Amino acid sequence: MDRDTAYQLVCEKITQDNLIKHIISVEAVMRRLATQFREDPERWGLVGLLHDLDYAETVDTPERHTFLTKEWLTAYPEIDPDMVHAIQAHAEHVVCQSQMDWAIYATDPTTGLITAAVLMHPSKKLEQLEVKSILKRFKDKRFAVGARRDAIAKCDQLGLTLEEFMTLALDGMRSIAVELGF
Ligand SMILES: [Fe+2]
Repeated sequence: MDRDTAYQLVCEKITQDNLIKHIISVEAVMRRLATQFREDPERWGLVGLLHDLDYAETVDTPERHTFLTKEWLTAYPEIDPDMVHAIQAHAEHVVCQSQMDWAIYATDPTTGLITAAVLMHPSKKLEQLEVKSILKRFKDKRFAVGARRDAIAKCDQLGLTLEEFMTLALDGMRSIAVELGF
């Protein structure tokens, strides 16, 4: 499955603009992390792009979240079992094992934190947002409460400090600033 096919699939299943922005943010960060770890950015990017594919269908049945995606993806044998494992790991339906699992697990809530942080920034631009201000937001437990700090902190499983991880995540999101509109 190439990126275009995956993106088309996402647009068929997900109509909410905010959710599409979340999904492409996770994709961009996954690509950035893959480059950092000398892994395949296409493969890691696809995991990011497809991780919430069944979100709209399972919003009221979270226990089915990612299981429906797994079913749909059987039509695409090039999506290998490790990729499906990572997609399921982000929703805690399987235990994180690989670097790719931990990457998607920590990235998912991080994009939410960065999005909330940039919207609070006077410039509303990722280019102007600094890592230290994201770290400050991270410590403020009342800020963007949905962005699970315990999951973000699992970046240590990637051998990264919070600061290193936030730097890479911000870098990834900045690469699609135009698409995100901030
Ligand atoms: Fe997500």
